[in-house]
Amino acid sequence: MSVAALVASLPFLGCAVGGAGAGVVGVSDKPQKASAAPAGIDAGPRDGAAALPPGYRESFTKLTLARVPSQGHATGRWELDVFANDAGAHAMATRAREVPVGASVVAEHYERGGARGAGPVMVMEKRERGYAPDHGDWRYVVVGSAGQLVNDGVIASCAGCHDDAPMDGLFPIVP
Ligand code: HEC
Repeated sequence: MSVAALVASLPFLGCAVGGAGAGVVGVSDKPQKASAAPAGIDAGPRDGAAALPPGYRESFTKLTLARVPSQGHATGRWELDVFANDAGAHAMATRAREVPVGASVVAEHYERGGARGAGPVMVMEKRERGYAPDHGDWRYVVVGSAGQLVNDGVIASCAGCHDDAPMDGLFPIVP
């Protein structure tokens, strides 16, 4: 599945990019008071930066020595740079069966074969028990290549695959 198709299947995307949200329960094309709109279904694109772990490029460990081809996200299209905080890096290195709360992993996507064309940034963050009990308590974030927030929360299409990963939601990254 391409990331575009993947993203198109996300329940709130149509709303997040505006326009396509008409007819979705709770969303109208009339201007809404900000407080009336649940997070993620505002009228216009939202800045995704706030949904990324602050300063992760400096403070996280880079797990990939060189960019690795992505097997899971639109096979063949993307290469990944993957960063993790200490808890996330430890979980990845030890192939943890239970990833501790607070672990965070960021996957930057790039078009294969060159610096040209940065793609989305995807994040997984292990949240407190009960956040997403059927999905390993993982929060998923997708920030688009223009920096816009695409989706943030318990994203069914992400969890649908990562729920079956071998190490508590995480797939191994071979650096
Ligand atoms: C079809 C299966 C599949 C889907 C759907 C999927 N992923 Fe992944 N994901 C993978 C695989 C496999 C990897 C390991 C790297 C690779 O080869 O792409 C991975 C890696 C990651 C990583 C790095 C941490 C790790 O597990 O290695 C993050 C972060 C991530 N995915 C986020 C997401 C988000 C956010 C979504 C939803 C928009 C998503 N993924 C949807 C299969 C999937």
